[in-house]
Amino acid sequence: MGIGRLSDGLAPTPPMGWNSWNRFGVKIDENLVLETAEAMIATGMRDAGYRYVVIDDGWMAPNRDRNGDFVADPEKFPSGIKTLADRIHALGLRFGIYTDAGTKTCQDLPASLGYEFRDARRFAEWGVDYVKVDWCHTNGMGPRALYAKWAMAFHAARRPMVLSICEWGRSRPWEWAGAIGHLWRTSWDIQPEWSSILTILDRQAELHSFAGPDHWNDPDMLEVGNGDLTPDQNRAHFAFWSMLAAPLMAGNDLRTMTDATRDILIAPEIVAIDQDAGGRQGRRLWRDGDIDTWVRDLATGGEHVIAVLNRGSATREVRIALEDIGVAPRTNVRVRDLWKRSAVGKTRREILIATSANSATVLGVSAG
Ligand code: GAL
Repeated sequence: MGIGRLSDGLAPTPPMGWNSWNRFGVKIDENLVLETAEAMIATGMRDAGYRYVVIDDGWMAPNRDRNGDFVADPEKFPSGIKTLADRIHALGLRFGIYTDAGTKTCQDLPASLGYEFRDARRFAEWGVDYVKVDWCHTNGMGPRALYAKWAMAFHAARRPMVLSICEWGRSRPWEWAGAIGHLWRTSWDIQPEWSSILTILDRQAELHSFAGPDHWNDPDMLEVGNGDLTPDQNRAHFAFWSMLAAPLMAGNDLRTMTDATRDILIAPEIVAIDQDAGGRQGRRLWRDGDIDTWVRDLATGGEHVIAVLNRGSATREVRIALEDIGVAPRTNVRVRDLWKRSAVGKTRREILIATSANSATVLGVSAG
């Protein structure tokens, strides 16, 4: 700590959008990206706050051009990246792209080591708004210095671009990356499995003090709607990423998702937790066997969100004293179920929560 933090206003709340990787891997092309952008609008995701359409690894041709500039794979992106970005912008959305800080991407495609200023300039010319910089093939290099070079390259390119740092949390980036980029991965890659979501969540429990406007911990992109996650598991994943003030980058196929998946991704009172203007990341109050209790303080100061996670296979009852979440004794509070969007009741002492197997209960608590 003790170092400066970015405050350039590019990511005042955690970035929201879609990224191709979790669902499509390298099987991406311009039709997929445009159809996804259109689906973002048709499904109400844009209106819910999703803005960035990001292509991950696999967009580049195997070689740079003779000037040394990046070239898009001509079969996947025949119209070129600039045209794609223009079309995304015309839909009222923003465009993001991927590169890698090392000699090759994780899929062995051309990467940016030694080309940082050239690539930042090219991205700026293309109209890129967001760049994810990965960390494969970086043997022996220091992430802090190399990502700082990227920040300088963005500055020199004279286009505001969100910098997404992706070194998987290896060098405790929460301690240094807030001065350099807008978000930094805190863990290895997420999988569409309950165990992966829980493992990542456990790694976030001590990181709340490092996040805030323009600098966010990134527990990785969403798997909502992917794999065999049950509806309750999808809801728990989404609610906890919102408690963590995580960037909400959908990672599913927006063109074919079910209404149930969409309803999770746009749940207004859950998205509002994530996007709370205070930017204070939630923290774990305690863990008791299969039950985790987390709290997040909202911008108004008097409002709190409690999220109770039941990792186990039986329904459990949990009691939370108001003083445990920082409410002064004998204050009357209203309790609201933020998934159901309905009032639960009033209390001055404690809240009793029944939480079913593999699910999360999310309650808003406010004075009155
Ligand atoms: C990983 C990264 C993933 C994805 C993948 C692409 O290093 O964590 O999110 O970008 O590379 O190859």
